[in-house]
Amino acid sequence: MIKGPIGVFDSGYGGLTVLKDITVQLPQYDYIYLGDNARAPYGARSFETIYQYTLQCVEWFFKQGCPLVILACNTASAKALRSIQQINLPKINPDKRVLGVIRPTSEIIGQYTHSNKVGVLGTAGTVQSLSYPIEIEKFFPEITVYQQACPMWVPLVENNEYNSDGADYFIKKYLQQLFFQSNEIDTLLLACTHYPLLMEKIKQFIPVGVTILSQGEIVANSLVNYLERHPEIATQCTKNSQSTFYTTDSTEDFDQKASIFYGKPVNSLHLIL
Ligand code: DGL
Repeated sequence: MIKGPIGVFDSGYGGLTVLKDITVQLPQYDYIYLGDNARAPYGARSFETIYQYTLQCVEWFFKQGCPLVILACNTASAKALRSIQQINLPKINPDKRVLGVIRPTSEIIGQYTHSNKVGVLGTAGTVQSLSYPIEIEKFFPEITVYQQACPMWVPLVENNEYNSDGADYFIKKYLQQLFFQSNEIDTLLLACTHYPLLMEKIKQFIPVGVTILSQGEIVANSLVNYLERHPEIATQCTKNSQSTFYTTDSTEDFDQKASIFYGKPVNSLHLIL
């Protein structure tokens, strides 16, 4: 049996906030992280573009021997995951698996809300796809989902401007727009893997008592559970506690910024797709 590392993908740095929590819960496995920084952000791109970019990256992971790839990006999960699972995987290799971040989050959100009114903050692509309202409805039909696109948040994070005074304007703006839709929202989902870096700022501008959920821990718990339920996949994943990082853009820039998201120094390799 050919074994390999678990692939973790994001358009840029955001997925590192997920990988960080995954490696805490599952330190024994090997991981390859790929940030498609040269083509990020994905957030406002078309369905077709995001699908093609994501598919290309998933195929690269498979060439590296990954039996399992996590799309640690809501935009890619919203716009590309289903097509990859249904159209491409059966042709490429039906034994490989690609998982996203939307389902694990939707499955548990009902545990947090008492008002049954949930706010979802994401990129324009994630919001337009309606993936969260559709997926949450399957598990918790009693919940009403209010969505807000926050197109300026990823650029603020990627340009390291998220702690600046200028950032406050856009953080406040989108939160006001969300809570204007309903002041009964009691649970706020950061449905973009970049947003955990904005957590402290977001807390300043939301009503007291609102629970904020970010996805790292949720996705990590779900992966633990998945590997327990799927030993046929788990046994194909190598276990040397090694993580390798790739970026499609400058490795210097990546290493400098990645440590902010990952919480540890990162030494990346350059990938030309
Ligand atoms: N981190 C990605 C997500 O979770 C979005 C970043 C981007 O727009 O490329 O949606």
